[in-house]
Formats: sequence, structure tokens, C-alpha cells
Amino acid sequence: MEQVLAAELAALGLGARAIPGGAEAEGEDAVALACLAARTADAVLLRLWEGPAADLPRAKREARRAAGASELRVRVEGGTASVSIDAAGAPLFRRGWRARVGAAPLRETIAAGLLLACGWDGERPFLDPMCGSGTIAIEAALLAGRRAPGLGRVFAFEGLPGHDARRTERLRARLTTLARPARVAIHASDRNAGVLRLARANAAAAGVEDVIRFAREDAARVVPPAGEGLCATNPPWGIRLDEAAREAWGALAALLPRLAGWEVAVLGPERGFEKLLPRAPRSTVRIRAGGVACRLLRYTP
Ligand SMILES: C[S@@+](CC[C@H](N)C(=O)[O-])C[C@H]1O[C@@H](n2cnc3c(N)ncnc32)[C@H](O)[C@@H]1O
Repeated sequence: MEQVLAAELAALGLGARAIPGGAEAEGEDAVALACLAARTADAVLLRLWEGPAADLPRAKREARRAAGASELRVRVEGGTASVSIDAAGAPLFRRGWRARVGAAPLRETIAAGLLLACGWDGERPFLDPMCGSGTIAIEAALLAGRRAPGLGRVFAFEGLPGHDARRTERLRARLTTLARPARVAIHASDRNAGVLRLARANAAAAGVEDVIRFAREDAARVVPPAGEGLCATNPPWGIRLDEAAREAWGALAALLPRLAGWEVAVLGPERGFEKLLPRAPRSTVRIRAGGVACRLLRYTP
């Protein structure tokens, strides 16, 4: 997902490049933009200093003054060291809309990453036929409505010595004006009534309950919305390929013929579950979700 993150930061107007595990970015209001508007970043580290490891004690003394109450994060690699602080102060995937954690929810940032990795920009219909707590559909609704995910939050960088609060407020106001009504159908369904209740509560907390059409349905019987769009989903999988997982992937296989012309993205484990689907994926992206190695299987029409 590093490339997706770097592209997202570049689209926000920053100079960005992917590095292992993340992206480096620089530019005007880089920290504020990353915290308020990036959908795929889990954390934002503000680098206060980088230089020869021998200079670290002096750099740490100086960094402490700039860091205020924030804890310093020191990294030493060979002869080079860096001192950073957590500019967000809390994980960015905690957007604040999740009512309670349902069974195996996907991280909000990964859900947004799946959408952006597929180039979904809110201009094509969207479907998640196994939506669980609704994460992918809710992130789709936020993206389709051009709503920056961090607008309602206060971040650690806002408490740093010398922080220009008026400038950050102006940026918040500018990002707020970008919001617009979603223009496409966003459908989310699940066969489990309990998780659907949770998904609806989450969507309401995120302010997108009117944008998503929720339905209780077995994936095998789902009728996709009109038009050709993106179906992105995260079917269940067990430690082993057990009966429940086999059945769920079978239901997805039954839905696929009705998705002619659609792009399909399935987040699955690294265990060959894709053999349960009728077609070989066009491409496979290896990612880690919650520390677990996964594969994003992409089927293009
Ligand atoms: C791994 S969870 C999805 C988690 C979701 N991405 C989230 O963030 O909460 C898989 C979901 O698939 C649903 N499911 C399993 N078999 C299904 C089927 N045949 N039809 C519809 N939903 C199904 C389960 O009820 C469960 O909510």
C-alpha cells in the first residue's frame, strides 16, 4: 500500500515518495494535510531532525524543546539517526465512527487503501456483498462525498509549541468546502442481521447513512446496482479452509457471473482461497492487514 499512500499524498499537493512501510512527504502544511485528509495513513511522524548518529544527543536536546509534550521517537540505522514525533497522537484509522468492534473488522485505512488501489474515485457504483460492520462501504461513502476523514478530530501537532492554529483552521475550512453529495450508488449487504445493525450504526456515526443502501442478503443472491462499478469485499476466512469459509467463498463465486463489466477486488488470506473462485485474478497485491499477510485479488472485466 506504500505506493497508494504516496499517490494519495501527492494528490494532496505534497512532494511524496513511497518507502518501505510508508511514504515520505514534504510541502506546505504537510503534517496537517496528512493528518486531516490522508485516508490510507495509519500514523504521521513529523521528522524534527536527521543526521549523523554521533550528533544524536545534541539533536535530542534541541528536539525536546520543539516537541512540547510529545514523546520523541529515535531511529538509528547504521551511522544515520533521526528524531521524530507522532504528529497525529493517535492512530489515524480510529476515525471516530466505529460504534463497537464487530467480528474481524477491517482497518479503516486498509479499506480506503483497497478503494484507492483499484482507482475507485466515487464516480462508479460500489458494492460490498459481505460488508460486516460496513468499513469498506463507509470509507467508499466518505471518499465519494470528498469528505476528509480527520476533519472532526484534534491532532497532537496542534499542541506543538509555535503551532499556527489560525492556519490549521483555514485548512480545515478549505477541506470542508470540498465535500459534495455522493453521486453514485453504494450498496452494502451481509447475511447476518447483527453485523448489519452495527454497520448501520457505524454509517450513522460517520454521517453517511443516507448514502449507503444496506440490505440483508446472502451474497449468492445479491443483485448489483445498475451500471458497471467496483465490488470490493473481505469474505471470511479461517485458520484452515473450513466449511464456513468454503461456503462464503462459494457464495461469492455464485455472484461473480452477475458482475459482468464490474471490477472485483477480494481481500483474502495467503492460503490459496482464490482457487474457490471461478476465474484467476488479473493481479494480486500482497498487503498486511492488522499484522496478517493478505492478498488483494483483483479481477478486471
Ligand atoms: C470478515 S467479515 C467482513 C468484515 C468487514 N469487512 C468489516 O470491516 O467489518 C465477513 C462477513 O461476511 C459475511 N458473510 C459470510 N458468508 C456470507 C454470505 N454467504 N452472504 C453474505 N454475507 C456473508 C459474514 O456475516 C461477515 O460479516
